[in-house]
Amino acid sequence: MKKRTWDDSPMMRAARCQVTESVPVWLMRQAGRYMPEYREIRERVSFIELCKTPELAAEVMLTAVQRLGVDAAIIFSDILLILEPMGLELEFEPDGGPRIGNPIRNSSDVNLLRELESVEDLEFVMNTIRYTREGLDDSLPLIGFAGAPFTLAAYAIEGNSSRNFRLVKAFMHVCPNEWQEMMRKFALSTARYLNSQINAGVQLVQIFDSWVGCLSDEDYKKYVKPYSRMLIDLIIPGTPIIHFGPGNPILLPDIRDAGGHVIGIDWRIAIDQAWNIVGADYAVQGNLDPAILLTNREIIRQSVQHILRQVGRRPGFIFNLGHGIMPQTPVENAITLVDAVHEFGVVR
Ligand code: CP3
Repeated sequence: MKKRTWDDSPMMRAARCQVTESVPVWLMRQAGRYMPEYREIRERVSFIELCKTPELAAEVMLTAVQRLGVDAAIIFSDILLILEPMGLELEFEPDGGPRIGNPIRNSSDVNLLRELESVEDLEFVMNTIRYTREGLDDSLPLIGFAGAPFTLAAYAIEGNSSRNFRLVKAFMHVCPNEWQEMMRKFALSTARYLNSQINAGVQLVQIFDSWVGCLSDEDYKKYVKPYSRMLIDLIIPGTPIIHFGPGNPILLPDIRDAGGHVIGIDWRIAIDQAWNIVGADYAVQGNLDPAILLTNREIIRQSVQHILRQVGRRPGFIFNLGHGIMPQTPVENAITLVDAVHEFGVVR
């Protein structure tokens, strides 16, 4: 069978640490509230309805990809949707924040948590993948994603976006056996979910461990790493895995050792320093501070050049933000960023 051209795209090549003609760029949360087209659709449907309407979810992402000119698409979905078929009640409040109606607080709650045996209830995600892949140019890869076990556990226990993570940390230390059982269920369920995404047509997967930066290195090693590794080890070989755990650069060697081919880097550490820690055998993705997109054209272009200079010509770099794009971002600024990466990131 003839290889699809996405297989030779800058994004896929960089993920495999191969030389590219240009530096690939995409933005976390590239489809979202900062885009007028997105806000218009959200006036008619709720966020969860949008995720569960594959034609519309695909349209939202395809519009963003076209508007920005990025080198990859990511499916329009959410890391928390897996919690519903596992038995948790998920809602998004009018201000956008998630809420779990029946959070996990004790051992009987852990027993009630259902390991995902089939992805039947998440078939809408697979359909979003099919529609997005169909509408996407053959030269662009599609990224699937899921939350890492710790970040899913943090939402499941806290019940919302926490500031200090006191409940999840207490649970981890006070109920280590229940913790292990819960983390195992999240790891196995997420592996099944990501493998289904791969079978439905994504070319790479990204694992978001968005809240792991709240932990010490010692606690990460003891309570989290074995389950992130369990998940990553179960993913179908041959699909590049992006492992993103922002917030605490001290964790980078352990995040790398837990697995993945591309390590996501936030802005708290310089990209060259992070890459030296992670090692040249790995690709890296990052790491512009999303706040820079709230400034102006000159500052954005200088910041892009600064990161590209730090990276130099090492193969395996994917340009991204250090975390998701902010809702207040002017669309022109996001376009300026993508154009600047394409202008200054040409390898001559
Ligand atoms: O990158 C993309 O454009 C693809 C879509 C995507 C969304 N969520 C859409 C979304 C992705 C990759 C996610 C992942 C996600 N979801 C994460 C990991 C990434 C990260 O930021 O660390 C997390 C922690 C969540 C959970 C979540 N979903 C929160 C905390 C919120 C509310 C706050 C916020 O940032 O908006 C959501 C809602 C959400 N997910 C929106 C979008 C476009 C906004 C919904 C709306 O109001 O329209």
